Amino acid sequence: MTSIPFDDRDGTIWVDGAFVPWREARLHVLSHGLHYGGAVFEGVRVYGGQPFKSVEHAERLRASAREMNFELPWSAAELDAVTREIVSRGQITDGYVRPVAWRGSEQISVSGAGSSVHVAVAAWEWPHVFSDDAQESGIRLRTSRWRRPSPESAPVRAKAASLYAIGTLARDEAEADGFDDALLLDHRGNLAEATGANLFLVIDGELHTPVPDGFLDGITRQTVIALAAGLGLTVRVRAIDPAELAVADEVFLTGTAYEVQPVRAVDAREFTVGGTTKLLAEAYGRLVRGEGDGAP
Ligand SMILES: Cc1ncc(COP(=O)(O)O)c(C=O)c1O
Repeated sequence: MTSIPFDDRDGTIWVDGAFVPWREARLHVLSHGLHYGGAVFEGVRVYGGQPFKSVEHAERLRASAREMNFELPWSAAELDAVTREIVSRGQITDGYVRPVAWRGSEQISVSGAGSSVHVAVAAWEWPHVFSDDAQESGIRLRTSRWRRPSPESAPVRAKAASLYAIGTLARDEAEADGFDDALLLDHRGNLAEATGANLFLVIDGELHTPVPDGFLDGITRQTVIALAAGLGLTVRVRAIDPAELAVADEVFLTGTAYEVQPVRAVDAREFTVGGTTKLLAEAYGRLVRGEGDGAP
C-alpha cells in the first residue's frame, strides 16, 4: 500500500509540454479518457538514474494510442527527452516513470472523434513491486476466473488503460484470497499472463512461454528471450495448456515493474526458485544496470 497518495506529492510532472507542480497536474472530471477508457500508458524503469529502453516504451505508447485510434502530438524522441528530464528533475535513482496519454473533454460521447489528446509524464522512486523476500523466494499466483479477451474483442496489443479493468478485478480477488497476483488464461483457456507481467515456465531446462496473440508482448519478455538465447537456452513460444504447470520445474514472470520475478506457487501447485530463473534474473539485472550484455 502506498503511504503518500499519488496526487499529494512534491515534485514536477510534465503535462502537454509544460513542467507543472506535482499537485497541479490535474484533468477535468468530464474527460473522455476517464469515462470511456480513451487512455494508454507506459511504465519505464529507472536504474542508477538511467531510464531503461525509454525510446522503446515511447514508441509503444505511440503505437498503443494508434491502436485506440488517436495520434500522439509528440515523437518518440521528444517523449524520451521528456522522460530523461523528469527523471533528472526528480533526482530519481531507482524508480519508475509513468507516461500516460488520454482523450480530453470536448465531448461526453462514446465517439472519440475530434477529442483533444493529452500526454503527461511523471516519475518516482520505486525500488521493487514485491518485497525483497518475495523477489528471492517467489510470489504466489491464483488462477483467475477472468480471462484475457480475444483479439477480436479488445485491442490486446495496446497498453490501454481500459484493459486493466480486467487485471484489477483479477488481482483484487487474488489478493483477497491471500495470493500476491492473479494468473489469467486467454479466451481459449490457455495460459496467458499475470496482471502486469508475462509468463515463463521452465520444463526440463527449456523455457516455454505463451504466444503473445492475446496480450502484451512485453519489452521485458522480448529482452529475456534474447538473453536466454545468448545463454544457450532453448525458448519455445507456443500455446500452453494450464495442465502443463504440473510438469513445470520453475515458473517466473517478466515485466518492466516486476523484472524477472520468481513464482513459488500457482494455486496449490508449488515450484522451486531454480537455477534457470536465477540465471536469467541475474543476467537481466546486469543488463538493465548497463553492466555488459547480461552474459554471466
Ligand atoms: C498486462 C501486462 N502484461 C505484460 C507486461 C510486461 O510488459 P513490459 O515487459 O513491456 O513491461 C505488462 C507491463 O507493462 C503488463 O501490464
